Amino acid sequence: MDRTPTAPDALLPVRSAVLLLPLLLTGCAGSQSILDPAGIQAERIATLFWWMFGGGMLIWVGVVALAGYVIKVRPGNHQPLKGQWLIIGGGILFPTLVLTALLIYGLSIMPETRLNQRADVNISVAGEQWWWRVHYQMPDGTSVELANEIRLPVGKTALFKLTSSNVIHSFWIPALGGKVDMIPGRTNQLLLEPRRTGTFKGACAEYCGTSHSFMRFRVRVMEQQAFDEWLANQSRPAQIPARTSTREGLRVFMSNGCATCHSIRGTAANGELGPDLTHVGSRLSLAAGTLPMQPESFVHWIGHSRDIKPGAVMPRFEVLGPDKLEALGAYLSSLK
Ligand code: CUA
Repeated sequence: MDRTPTAPDALLPVRSAVLLLPLLLTGCAGSQSILDPAGIQAERIATLFWWMFGGGMLIWVGVVALAGYVIKVRPGNHQPLKGQWLIIGGGILFPTLVLTALLIYGLSIMPETRLNQRADVNISVAGEQWWWRVHYQMPDGTSVELANEIRLPVGKTALFKLTSSNVIHSFWIPALGGKVDMIPGRTNQLLLEPRRTGTFKGACAEYCGTSHSFMRFRVRVMEQQAFDEWLANQSRPAQIPARTSTREGLRVFMSNGCATCHSIRGTAANGELGPDLTHVGSRLSLAAGTLPMQPESFVHWIGHSRDIKPGAVMPRFEVLGPDKLEALGAYLSSLK
Protein backbone atom coordinates (compact mmCIF):
# COMPACT_ATOMS: atom_id res chain seq x y z
CA MET A 1 0.00 0.00 0.00
CA ASP A 2 1.28 3.39 -0.95
CA ARG A 3 1.84 5.59 2.04
CA THR A 4 2.37 9.28 1.59
CA PRO A 5 3.98 10.85 4.66
CA THR A 6 1.83 13.57 6.14
CA ALA A 7 3.34 16.97 5.42
CA PRO A 8 4.56 18.79 8.54
CA ASP A 9 2.16 21.56 9.55
CA ALA A 10 3.99 24.68 8.40
CA LEU A 11 1.82 26.89 10.57
CA LEU A 12 2.40 24.89 13.75
CA PRO A 13 4.93 27.32 15.29
CA VAL A 14 2.62 30.28 14.60
CA ARG A 15 -0.40 28.46 16.04
CA SER A 16 1.53 27.42 19.15
CA ALA A 17 2.77 31.00 19.64
CA VAL A 18 -0.78 32.40 19.38
CA LEU A 19 -2.04 29.82 21.87
CA LEU A 20 0.80 30.44 24.32
CA LEU A 21 0.71 34.24 24.12
CA PRO A 22 -2.14 34.74 26.65
CA LEU A 23 -0.27 32.49 29.10
CA LEU A 24 2.89 34.54 28.67
CA LEU A 25 1.06 37.84 29.04
CA THR A 26 -0.58 36.84 32.34
CA GLY A 27 2.96 36.83 33.72
CA CYS A 28 3.20 40.55 32.94
CA ALA A 29 0.62 41.63 35.54
CA GLY A 30 0.89 41.45 39.30
CA SER A 31 2.43 42.99 42.37
CA GLN A 32 6.01 42.16 41.38
CA SER A 33 6.06 42.99 37.69
CA ILE A 34 8.00 45.69 35.87
CA LEU A 35 5.31 45.54 33.16
CA ASP A 36 2.55 46.55 35.58
CA PRO A 37 4.11 49.81 36.81
CA ALA A 38 2.70 51.68 39.80
CA GLY A 39 5.16 54.57 39.85
CA ILE A 40 6.78 57.11 37.54
CA GLN A 41 10.23 55.47 37.55
CA ALA A 42 8.77 52.02 36.77
CA GLU A 43 6.66 53.53 33.96
CA ARG A 44 9.84 54.81 32.31
CA ILE A 45 11.45 51.38 32.53
CA ALA A 46 8.32 49.71 31.12
CA THR A 47 8.22 52.21 28.23
CA LEU A 48 11.89 51.54 27.45
CA PHE A 49 11.19 47.81 27.58
CA TRP A 50 8.27 48.06 25.11
CA TRP A 51 10.30 50.22 22.69
CA MET A 52 13.15 47.69 22.78
CA PHE A 53 10.76 44.76 22.51
CA GLY A 54 8.88 46.36 19.58
CA GLY A 55 12.11 47.30 17.80
CA GLY A 56 13.57 43.85 18.42
CA MET A 57 10.42 42.24 16.97
CA LEU A 58 10.59 44.45 13.86
CA ILE A 59 14.23 43.58 13.25
CA TRP A 60 13.55 39.89 13.86
CA VAL A 61 10.65 39.89 11.39
CA GLY A 62 12.85 41.71 8.84
CA VAL A 63 15.70 39.21 9.18
CA VAL A 64 13.37 36.19 9.02
CA ALA A 65 11.64 37.68 5.95
CA LEU A 66 15.00 38.17 4.22
CA ALA A 67 16.07 34.64 5.11
CA GLY A 68 12.74 33.32 3.78
CA TYR A 69 13.22 35.32 0.60
CA VAL A 70 16.65 33.89 -0.19
CA ILE A 71 15.72 30.34 0.79
CA LYS A 72 12.24 29.99 -0.67
CA VAL A 73 11.58 32.80 -3.17
CA ARG A 74 14.93 33.38 -4.83
CA PRO A 75 17.36 30.61 -3.99
CA GLY A 76 20.70 30.43 -5.74
CA ASN A 77 23.37 32.99 -6.37
CA HIS A 78 22.73 36.70 -5.91
CA GLN A 79 24.57 39.66 -7.37
CA PRO A 80 27.65 40.27 -5.20
CA LEU A 81 27.22 44.07 -5.38
CA LYS A 82 23.73 43.95 -3.86
CA GLY A 83 25.00 41.61 -1.15
CA GLN A 84 27.70 44.11 -0.27
CA TRP A 85 25.18 46.89 0.18
CA LEU A 86 23.08 44.66 2.35
CA ILE A 87 26.08 44.09 4.61
CA ILE A 88 26.99 47.78 4.82
CA GLY A 89 23.38 48.90 5.25
CA GLY A 90 22.05 46.12 7.45
CA GLY A 91 25.28 45.24 9.24
CA ILE A 92 26.81 48.67 9.92
CA LEU A 93 24.50 51.62 9.25
CA PHE A 94 21.27 50.16 10.63
CA PRO A 95 22.63 48.86 13.97
CA THR A 96 24.64 52.07 14.48
CA LEU A 97 21.53 54.21 14.00
CA VAL A 98 19.28 51.98 16.13
CA LEU A 99 21.78 51.63 18.99
CA THR A 100 22.58 55.37 18.99
CA ALA A 101 18.87 56.23 19.16
CA LEU A 102 18.36 53.73 22.00
CA LEU A 103 21.39 55.10 23.87
CA ILE A 104 20.13 58.69 23.64
CA TYR A 105 16.64 57.65 24.75
CA GLY A 106 18.04 55.48 27.56
CA LEU A 107 20.26 58.29 28.85
CA SER A 108 17.34 60.74 28.77
CA ILE A 109 15.28 58.58 31.16
CA MET A 110 18.17 57.59 33.43
CA PRO A 111 17.31 58.21 37.09
CA GLU A 112 18.75 61.20 38.88
CA THR A 113 21.89 60.11 40.73
CA ARG A 114 22.81 63.47 42.24
CA LEU A 115 23.27 63.39 46.00
CA ASN A 116 21.14 65.39 48.43
CA GLN A 117 17.96 65.42 46.41
CA ARG A 118 14.83 66.65 48.16
CA ALA A 119 11.90 64.35 48.75
CA ASP A 120 8.67 64.23 50.76
CA VAL A 121 9.69 61.06 52.62
CA ASN A 122 13.24 60.04 53.57
CA ILE A 123 13.97 56.41 54.28
CA SER A 124 17.25 54.59 54.94
CA VAL A 125 17.41 50.87 54.23
CA ALA A 126 20.31 48.59 55.10
CA GLY A 127 20.66 45.08 53.73
CA GLU A 128 21.15 42.46 56.46
CA GLN A 129 21.50 38.67 56.14
CA TRP A 130 18.68 38.13 55.11
CA TRP A 131 16.35 40.94 55.94
CA TRP A 132 15.98 44.72 55.67
CA ARG A 133 16.69 47.27 58.40
CA VAL A 134 14.52 50.31 57.71
CA HIS A 135 14.71 53.81 59.22
CA TYR A 136 12.11 56.50 58.56
CA GLN A 137 13.41 60.04 59.06
CA MET A 138 10.84 62.04 61.03
CA PRO A 139 10.22 65.77 60.44
CA ASP A 140 11.67 66.55 63.91
CA GLY A 141 15.04 65.03 62.97
CA THR A 142 14.60 61.75 64.85
CA SER A 143 14.28 58.42 63.11
CA VAL A 144 12.07 55.40 63.62
CA GLU A 145 13.43 51.90 63.07
CA LEU A 146 11.35 49.14 61.57
CA ALA A 147 12.08 46.13 59.38
CA ASN A 148 11.10 44.30 56.21
CA GLU A 149 8.34 46.69 55.23
CA ILE A 150 8.06 49.97 53.37
CA ARG A 151 4.98 52.17 53.30
CA LEU A 152 4.75 55.22 51.08
CA PRO A 153 2.22 57.99 50.49
CA VAL A 154 0.77 57.96 46.96
CA GLY A 155 1.81 60.79 44.64
CA LYS A 156 4.73 61.84 46.86
CA THR A 157 8.45 61.42 46.31
CA ALA A 158 10.40 59.04 48.54
CA LEU A 159 14.18 59.14 48.72
CA PHE A 160 15.90 55.91 49.76
CA LYS A 161 19.44 55.86 51.12
CA LEU A 162 20.69 52.34 50.60
CA THR A 163 23.62 50.61 52.24
CA SER A 164 24.75 47.31 53.70
CA SER A 165 26.78 46.22 56.70
CA ASN A 166 27.83 42.83 55.35
CA VAL A 167 27.80 41.82 51.66
CA ILE A 168 26.34 43.42 48.54
CA HIS A 169 22.55 43.26 48.32
CA SER A 170 20.27 44.92 45.81
CA PHE A 171 17.09 46.81 46.69
CA TRP A 172 14.31 46.26 44.16
CA ILE A 173 10.61 47.08 44.04
CA PRO A 174 9.83 46.08 40.42
CA ALA A 175 6.43 47.83 40.31
CA LEU A 176 7.93 51.13 41.47
CA GLY A 177 11.38 51.42 39.90
CA GLY A 178 14.76 49.98 39.05
CA LYS A 179 17.08 48.03 41.30
CA VAL A 180 19.96 49.68 43.16
CA ASP A 181 22.90 47.90 44.79
CA MET A 182 23.47 48.15 48.53
CA ILE A 183 27.22 48.24 48.99
CA PRO A 184 29.08 48.08 52.33
CA GLY A 185 30.80 51.40 53.10
CA ARG A 186 28.78 53.31 50.52
CA THR A 187 25.35 54.95 50.37
CA ASN A 188 23.41 54.78 47.11
CA GLN A 189 20.26 56.77 46.48
CA LEU A 190 17.00 55.93 44.82
CA LEU A 191 14.10 58.29 44.26
CA LEU A 192 10.67 56.71 43.78
CA GLU A 193 7.28 58.28 43.15
CA PRO A 194 4.34 55.87 43.39
CA ARG A 195 1.25 56.77 41.38
CA ARG A 196 -1.38 54.37 42.68
CA THR A 197 -2.19 52.75 46.00
CA GLY A 198 -1.73 49.03 46.51
CA THR A 199 0.52 46.39 47.98
CA PHE A 200 3.60 45.44 46.02
CA LYS A 201 6.45 43.02 46.49
CA GLY A 202 10.11 43.86 46.85
CA ALA A 203 13.10 41.55 46.75
CA CYS A 204 16.85 41.39 46.96
CA ALA A 205 18.17 41.30 43.40
CA GLU A 206 21.81 40.41 44.07
CA TYR A 207 22.92 36.97 45.21
CA CYS A 208 23.99 37.51 48.82
CA GLY A 209 24.25 34.04 50.34
CA THR A 210 22.27 30.92 51.19
CA SER A 211 18.93 32.60 51.89
CA HIS A 212 19.10 35.30 49.22
CA SER A 213 15.80 34.14 47.75
CA PHE A 214 14.10 34.54 51.16
CA MET A 215 15.15 38.19 51.40
CA ARG A 216 11.90 39.89 50.45
CA PHE A 217 9.65 42.65 51.69
CA ARG A 218 6.24 44.19 51.17
CA VAL A 219 5.57 47.74 50.02
CA ARG A 220 2.23 49.37 50.68
CA VAL A 221 1.37 52.62 48.92
CA MET A 222 -1.32 54.48 50.89
CA GLU A 223 -3.28 57.72 50.88
CA GLN A 224 -1.38 60.50 52.69
CA GLN A 225 -3.63 60.51 55.76
CA ALA A 226 -3.45 56.74 56.26
CA PHE A 227 0.32 56.93 55.80
CA ASP A 228 0.64 59.70 58.42
CA GLU A 229 -1.41 57.67 60.89
CA TRP A 230 0.64 54.57 60.20
CA LEU A 231 3.97 56.37 60.67
CA ALA A 232 2.76 58.11 63.84
CA ASN A 233 1.81 54.70 65.24
CA GLN A 234 5.17 53.19 64.26
CA SER A 235 6.98 55.99 66.12
CA ARG A 236 5.17 55.23 69.39
CA PRO A 237 6.52 52.72 71.94
CA ALA A 238 4.85 49.31 72.16
CA GLN A 239 1.72 48.95 74.27
CA ILE A 240 2.05 47.21 77.61
CA PRO A 241 0.28 43.83 77.21
CA ALA A 242 -3.15 43.83 78.84
CA ARG A 243 -4.09 40.15 78.63
CA THR A 244 -2.52 37.40 80.73
CA SER A 245 -1.49 35.36 77.68
CA THR A 246 0.36 38.27 76.07
CA ARG A 247 1.96 39.27 79.41
CA GLU A 248 3.31 35.73 79.66
CA GLY A 249 4.75 36.16 76.14
CA LEU A 250 6.61 39.30 77.20
CA ARG A 251 7.99 37.43 80.22
CA VAL A 252 9.22 34.57 77.98
CA PHE A 253 10.73 37.14 75.61
CA MET A 254 12.66 38.89 78.38
CA SER A 255 13.85 35.75 80.16
CA ASN A 256 15.12 33.72 77.16
CA GLY A 257 17.64 36.02 75.57
CA CYS A 258 15.36 37.46 72.82
CA ALA A 259 15.99 40.99 74.11
CA THR A 260 19.73 40.62 73.55
CA CYS A 261 19.18 40.82 69.79
CA HIS A 262 15.80 42.53 69.40
CA SER A 263 14.40 45.87 70.50
CA ILE A 264 10.85 46.52 71.61
CA ARG A 265 10.55 50.23 72.39
CA GLY A 266 8.75 50.79 75.69
CA THR A 267 10.24 47.63 77.23
CA ALA A 268 13.75 46.82 78.46
CA ALA A 269 14.47 44.96 75.21
CA ASN A 270 17.08 46.99 73.35
CA GLY A 271 19.13 44.52 71.29
CA GLU A 272 20.36 45.79 67.95
CA LEU A 273 21.45 42.70 66.05
CA GLY A 274 18.06 41.57 64.79
CA PRO A 275 14.95 43.36 63.49
CA ASP A 276 13.17 45.90 65.71
CA LEU A 277 9.94 44.25 66.90
CA THR A 278 8.12 47.25 68.44
CA HIS A 279 5.19 46.96 65.98
CA VAL A 280 6.01 43.62 64.38
CA GLY A 281 2.35 42.48 64.59
CA SER A 282 1.29 45.33 62.29
CA ARG A 283 3.50 44.16 59.45
CA LEU A 284 2.21 42.49 56.32
CA SER A 285 4.54 39.48 56.59
CA LEU A 286 7.02 37.80 58.90
CA ALA A 287 10.68 36.77 58.39
CA ALA A 288 11.28 39.22 55.52
CA GLY A 289 8.34 38.34 53.31
CA THR A 290 8.63 34.60 53.96
CA LEU A 291 5.63 33.81 56.21
CA PRO A 292 2.09 35.23 56.51
CA MET A 293 1.52 37.53 59.51
CA GLN A 294 -0.31 35.40 62.09
CA PRO A 295 0.48 34.04 65.60
CA GLU A 296 1.22 30.54 64.22
CA SER A 297 3.92 31.99 61.97
CA PHE A 298 5.80 33.31 65.01
CA VAL A 299 5.62 29.87 66.64
CA HIS A 300 6.83 28.25 63.42
CA TRP A 301 9.58 30.83 62.80
CA ILE A 302 11.00 30.99 66.33
CA GLY A 303 11.00 27.17 66.61
CA HIS A 304 12.43 26.53 63.12
CA SER A 305 14.18 29.69 61.95
CA ARG A 306 17.08 27.93 60.27
CA ASP A 307 14.86 25.36 58.56
CA ILE A 308 12.78 28.14 57.04
CA LYS A 309 15.74 30.37 56.25
CA PRO A 310 18.99 28.36 56.02
CA GLY A 311 21.96 30.21 57.47
CA ALA A 312 19.79 32.68 59.42
CA VAL A 313 21.64 34.36 62.31
CA MET A 314 18.78 33.59 64.72
CA PRO A 315 19.07 30.05 66.12
CA ARG A 316 16.09 27.69 66.40
CA PHE A 317 14.35 28.02 69.78
CA GLU A 318 12.53 24.67 69.59
CA VAL A 319 13.88 24.03 73.10
CA LEU A 320 11.37 26.54 74.52
CA GLY A 321 8.55 24.03 73.97
CA PRO A 322 5.06 24.60 72.55
CA ASP A 323 3.59 26.57 75.50
CA LYS A 324 6.30 29.21 75.60
CA LEU A 325 6.41 29.46 71.80
CA GLU A 326 2.65 29.97 71.74
CA ALA A 327 2.89 32.68 74.41
CA LEU A 328 5.60 34.40 72.36
CA GLY A 329 3.41 34.17 69.25
CA ALA A 330 0.45 35.69 71.09
CA TYR A 331 2.57 38.54 72.48
CA LEU A 332 4.51 39.39 69.32
CA SER A 333 1.46 39.32 67.06
CA SER A 334 -0.30 41.67 69.51
CA LEU A 335 2.39 44.33 68.90
CA LYS A 336 0.34 46.31 66.39
CU1 CUA B 1 20.34 40.17 49.87
CU2 CUA B 1 20.35 38.81 47.96
